[in-house]
Amino acid sequence: MVKPFSYVTTVNARIRMSTPDDAPFVTAIENDAELKQLLGGPSGKSQEFYRTFLSASEDLRFLIVESLASGFPIGLCGLLTGSLSDDCEVRVILTKDFWGRGLGTEVATALKKLAAELFPSKVLTAKAHPGNAPSLAIISRLGLVPDGAVSSDSRDNGWLAFRAPLATAPSNQTMRPTAARRRERLKDEL
Ligand SMILES: CC(C)(COP(=O)(O)OP(=O)(O)OC[C@H]1O[C@@H](n2cnc3c(N)ncnc32)[C@H](O)[C@@H]1OP(=O)(O)O)[C@@H](O)C(=O)NCCC(=O)NCCS
Repeated sequence: MVKPFSYVTTVNARIRMSTPDDAPFVTAIENDAELKQLLGGPSGKSQEFYRTFLSASEDLRFLIVESLASGFPIGLCGLLTGSLSDDCEVRVILTKDFWGRGLGTEVATALKKLAAELFPSKVLTAKAHPGNAPSLAIISRLGLVPDGAVSSDSRDNGWLAFRAPLATAPSNQTMRPTAARRRERLKDEL
C-alpha cells in the first residue's frame, strides 16, 4: 500500500486522493473519446466499476485535480507504482476547457515533487504517444530524458518512453521556463 497524502496545492489547483464519490467524474474522464484519443481510447468501464475500484484503491493512480478558483474537479492525474510500474510513472489528464493555460505543466511539476518525497529511490518515468505534442512538451520540461520506445503487446507499443532518477532529477530552477514566463522576461528586457 502506498503512503497516502492529504493534498498538494499548486498556484491554480489542488491535487487530492480520490474517494468513491469521485466515481462519476472518473468515469466521465476515462470514457471521454477526445481526452483519451492518444491514451489508448475510452476505458469502457462503468461508474459502478470505478466506485468499487476507488473504494478499495491503495495506490495513487487516480488523483483528482481541482480548480482552486471553483473547487470543482478539472482533471485526473496519478503516480503509477507497484503492479502498474516498476518505477514511478506520471500521468495527467485535464478537461478540455482547462488546456493551454500552463495547468498541465503545473500539475506534472507538483507530481514530480510529490514523487520525490514519496518514492525517492525510484525513477520517474513517462510514456507518450509520438503525436501527443503537449504531453511531450511537459515531459521535456520535467527534465525526463528519452528512453527509447515502448515494446509491448498492449496499446502503448511504439510510444516514446522517458525517465529521470527522482533523487537526482533536475530541480525546478533548471527547468525550461513556461511560455508565459518567457514572455514576461522578454517584456522585462525590452
Ligand atoms: C497533456 C495535457 C495534460 C496538457 O495540459 P495543458 O494544461 O494544456 O498543458 P500546458 O498548458 O502546460 O502546455 C504544455 C505545453 O504543450 C504545448 N501545447 C499545448 N497544446 C498543444 C498542441 N495542441 N500542440 C502542440 N503543443 C501544445 C504548450 O504550448 C506548452 O508548451 P510551451 O509552454 O513550451 O509552449 C492536456 O492536453 C490533456 O489533458 N490531454 C489529454 C490527456 C493526455 O494526453 N495526457 C497526457 C498523457 S498522461
